Amino acid sequence: MEYRFLGRTELRASVMGLGCGGHSRLGLATGRSEENAIAVVRDALTLGVNLIDTAEAYGTETVVGRALNGVSRESVILSTKISPSREGQVIPAAQFRERAEACLQRLQTDYVDILHLHGVPVKCYDEAVSELVPAMQQLRTEGKIRFLGITEAFASDPQHAMLQRALQDDCWDVMMIGFNLLNQSARERALRHTQAKGIGTLCMFAVRRALSRPEALSELLHDLHAQGLLEGEAFDPQNPLNIFGEDHSAAALTGIAYRFCRDEPGLDVILSGTGDPAHLQENADALLGPPLPAEQVEAWKRLFRCVDSVSGN
Ligand SMILES: NC(=O)c1ccc[n+]([C@@H]2O[C@H](COP(=O)([O-])OP(=O)(O)OC[C@H]3O[C@@H](n4cnc5c(N)ncnc54)[C@H](OP(=O)(O)O)[C@@H]3O)[C@@H](O)[C@H]2O)c1
Repeated sequence: MEYRFLGRTELRASVMGLGCGGHSRLGLATGRSEENAIAVVRDALTLGVNLIDTAEAYGTETVVGRALNGVSRESVILSTKISPSREGQVIPAAQFRERAEACLQRLQTDYVDILHLHGVPVKCYDEAVSELVPAMQQLRTEGKIRFLGITEAFASDPQHAMLQRALQDDCWDVMMIGFNLLNQSARERALRHTQAKGIGTLCMFAVRRALSRPEALSELLHDLHAQGLLEGEAFDPQNPLNIFGEDHSAAALTGIAYRFCRDEPGLDVILSGTGDPAHLQENADALLGPPLPAEQVEAWKRLFRCVDSVSGN
């Protein structure tokens, strides 16, 4: 496994992080068992993955807690999240605190390394910061969390409006950022600034549905082309997937998608979400594979230069 510093936190994280949410939720959302979910977490640790990302909302904190039973706590970077609002209203600090304590119980731990505000809409940002950041700082003083994080709602905010606001503040140690081959707009709008400020970054949406299902990808590329959003000569509307080479299998596309994110300057950890042990191994192999050809990467940067309206959800 390759390890990288997570911004200025001094945490040394594996380049592949295990995402316990998304459409799979370790397989719990796709009909697989809790035993399978536990096995996926343990397999990830065996592969050298040391960063595990979950959330109150995913329903996977309990299985993560069970999977980590007997594993030395210091060997794992645990990241979890709490939504700052309910029905459009920012929750009170006291409730936030109770919910953070409940996360620790489900995870069977005394502390998490990173606690994030989860999927913050730009319209809630200011109120969430003034109500909840003091509560997070108090949890840090008590040793219950080590670093403060924030994640964007990339599917509804693919242009990073909230993160651009959050980057003006100095309280965030870590940000979880939506970035993939199709929407690279975080490069200029977020990553340039996170690097300058030493904020650690976790990449989400590297693959999602669009880049793990060839038919969905083909359809999305047609839509982008029809909207005039694809730049340059490389795109062939008759064979849209040819821009990714000759192998259009899900395995080939996901491999390209993860490696593209891994090589993006400023992205520290690439989250990979799966409930399938075979996919976990494939994704680790991809993330540890050689760099993509530089001229190919430049061609994809050019092709998708104007796209900031899709997340690939
Ligand atoms: N706002 C937020 O805070 C937020 C939002 C979204 C996600 N996240 C975090 O980011 C993590 C990563 O997002 P994500 O889970 O959507 O991950 P992802 O890695 O971008 O995509 C995962 C999807 O691709 C499929 N997949 C993975 N590997 C595959 C392979 N080799 N071949 C074919 N299909 C494959 C998975 O299904 P299988 O189970 O079949 O492999 C799953 O449906 C989440 O788990 C969560 O921790 C945070």
